[in-house]
Amino acid sequence: MSMDKDISPSRDEVADPAVIAANAHAADQPDAQPATVSPPPVPQAAGSSRFHESARAQVQGTATYIDDMPELKGTLHAAPILSTVAHGQLLGVDTAAAMALPGVRGVILSQDIPGDRLLGNFSHDEPVFAQDTVQHIGQVIGVVVADTVMQARRAARQVQCHIEPLPAVLNVRDALAAQSYVLPPVFVQRGDADAALKSAQHTLHGTLEVGGQEHFYLEGQIAYVLPQEQNQWLVYSSTQHPGEVQHWVAHALGTDQHAVRVECRRMGGGFGGKETQAGHLAVWAAVAARKLGKPVKLRLDRDDDFLVTGKRHPFAYDYTVGFDDTGRITGLKLTMAVNCGFSADLSGPVADRAVFHVDNAYFLQDVAIASYRCKTHTQSNTAFRGFGGPQGMIVTEAIMGDIARQLGLDALDVRRRNLYGITERNVTHYQMTVEDNILEPLLLKLEQTSGYRLRKQAISAWNAASPVIQRGIALTPVKFGISFTATLFNQAGALVHVYTDGSCQVNHGGTEMGQGLNTKVAQIVADELGIAFEHVLATASDTSKIPNASATAASAGTDLNARAAQYAARNVRDNLAQFVAGLDNCGAGAVRFQGGEVTTPANRRPFTEVVKLAYANRIQLWSDGFYRTPKIHYDKTTLTGRPFFYFAYGAACTEVAIDTLTGESRVLKVDILHDVGNPINPAIDIGQIEGGFVQGMGWLTTEQLVWNEKGQLSTHAPSTYKIPTTGDIPAHFKIDLWLEPNREDNIFGSKAVGEPPLMLAISVFEAMRDAVAAARPCRRVQLDAPATAENVLRALGKLASVSQQPPPKKSDPRCAKLPTP
Ligand code: MTE
Ligand code: HPA
Ligand code: MOS
Repeated sequence: MSMDKDISPSRDEVADPAVIAANAHAADQPDAQPATVSPPPVPQAAGSSRFHESARAQVQGTATYIDDMPELKGTLHAAPILSTVAHGQLLGVDTAAAMALPGVRGVILSQDIPGDRLLGNFSHDEPVFAQDTVQHIGQVIGVVVADTVMQARRAARQVQCHIEPLPAVLNVRDALAAQSYVLPPVFVQRGDADAALKSAQHTLHGTLEVGGQEHFYLEGQIAYVLPQEQNQWLVYSSTQHPGEVQHWVAHALGTDQHAVRVECRRMGGGFGGKETQAGHLAVWAAVAARKLGKPVKLRLDRDDDFLVTGKRHPFAYDYTVGFDDTGRITGLKLTMAVNCGFSADLSGPVADRAVFHVDNAYFLQDVAIASYRCKTHTQSNTAFRGFGGPQGMIVTEAIMGDIARQLGLDALDVRRRNLYGITERNVTHYQMTVEDNILEPLLLKLEQTSGYRLRKQAISAWNAASPVIQRGIALTPVKFGISFTATLFNQAGALVHVYTDGSCQVNHGGTEMGQGLNTKVAQIVADELGIAFEHVLATASDTSKIPNASATAASAGTDLNARAAQYAARNVRDNLAQFVAGLDNCGAGAVRFQGGEVTTPANRRPFTEVVKLAYANRIQLWSDGFYRTPKIHYDKTTLTGRPFFYFAYGAACTEVAIDTLTGESRVLKVDILHDVGNPINPAIDIGQIEGGFVQGMGWLTTEQLVWNEKGQLSTHAPSTYKIPTTGDIPAHFKIDLWLEPNREDNIFGSKAVGEPPLMLAISVFEAMRDAVAAARPCRRVQLDAPATAENVLRALGKLASVSQQPPPKKSDPRCAKLPTP
């Protein structure tokens, strides 16, 4: 097996050989779990469906988001000045008309930035404010600051920007043809795909286009910056990555990181859209606050949020697949053109994760993948739930459907035929052995509980008798790698404080965005101390409490932070155990913490009493904890190693109906079996599965981003951009958990659940293609995602051309052949 080339330099990889060596060494070491003297209590909170810690407050409207916070006297409001040209020379900015408006206090432009005018991320290719050139419609050129939000927004529209237009690249295939890249291409191969294709019994060529997705978090992007004494800064940011916001603000202000404190109590959703993008707002507000010496708040209006911030990466694919009579893949050549937008942002690791997930659940022996990270003059695309994984998997799932139709086989049988094995055919194309494979039994169980076989027959019979409505069904698996692919991010810290009344506060480097991280962490801490869940309070993320914390992303929030918090709580418990052992003249190992009590062979005391006594005896009642994921190591220079600690698995069986006259569709029935390991909070996990699936369903059916010929995103509000509503939830939506503990030593035996369920929605897309095939009996289905009514009609041959990508320069974008690896 050989791998060809290097994964592109991405913002979060450290290429230093010393670091690689240290990581490889660390991977040999057992996880540095602190030695404990007192036995762990039997879990009471973890494993049960506790309410989300904010649920009541959110329902009552008393949970605080940044825009709810009382404003400090003198607070000013900022609004962005947006480019109206996709690509051009910025010749000048005339602010006179804006400055003359009531309430306006100032206009902040690139020259007002005291520090670096490029953002302090690894690629260093993105200006804080557009300077000499503009690179997409909606790029921020500066901000207007005024007494009220409406004054600022009105004035921002009066700023005159003189822009000399330049040719713009708006289509990913045009970008590819022009070799317009934000990062160099990456080639991964194993075996000899060319030879395998030559000797294959069957081959197929195909293309696929898959659209992007707007995050549509309920709480839009916001930052509130308050100048403190002696050139220090307090930043409230709705961010998944307070540490990165701190770094960017310090960088732009030209100050030390220690002078910037970033706090985030919660987000009203992030979905990846606040992993980096939140930093921009904080920097813009900070530069304004610094120039004007006042607190400045910046909240984007929804339309501006659409126009300014990056989205899920759209992909275009070309593939040639070879397979045998049974449907088993024998060779695959795949080209992925990734639409990154105008700057690198997280595109390197997103495109990498797509490469890592092309296999999904399947063994690919002879495979060659080319990944082009294309630059277009559109918003800079960013993290979105799944982080490239969905875009990697969907093309392979489409290929499975194609093969089945070509051979006249059942698609589930073809999928089965290609699954990873247990002792052989079990090494991925990036050379990681799949050790925790549960695919076969999981698929078998869902096949039975969903009634797939009988329903398939019933659907065929129904379709044969139905003139207009046609149904389709698909059962697709998911295998998703858990860990940041950049090994260094897989670390976390936490602080546990026990107060003299026995109540406990936990703080960790993760952020709460609705996914229930704080709830799960509090459950783990409560159990570690043997106290009631209600006595543990998780507090706001704060860079002054936990430094250098990673983004809450890659679904690893609980894996990382709950473990760090568990270790911190364990230290406190050990302090108390040793103290009590001294009182009762026993070994610390004989001291038990359970049900709010501390027992020794001699005594039984309330936890609160022990805490008071310990305090009076000067025993430390708080501690830190630190966790680093074991076993993982990844050498990006040779593309070998183990980027993921473990895999999360799942499968979904989805039935849809399409109207062959209008192209409209409906998801009728969904059965899901998903692997969450031993769940810390089953109700929250099921909520994540429901939400992830529905979000994925939106991506693949109704959520269409349309840029016009000028490069303007014309779907920039809910009037034209359609996310799923309650009416779109399938009437039959059954979710079962696969309750086998994680085979790796992960917190509580659980598995990460934030992102993997989104990819279960690929079953919706495959069911749509099945329905199209029923309506138009032919072996090939050319349906692009999202499967909007127009795209369905086009797949049925009833609509000539609908473009979902920015309009191509050539007559038919599919005529432009992608270069193959
Ligand atoms: N769930 C809610 N309610 N809101 C969100 O913003 N983000 C998703 C997922 N589930 C999100 C969510 C994404 S993109 C990720 S990476 C994970 O949550 C992050 O949190 P975790 O690592 O704690 O699961
Ligand atoms: N997932 C999510 N976010 C990330 C990753 C990842 O693998 N790497 C860097 N940011
Ligand atoms: Mo999630 S896309 O890793 O924030």
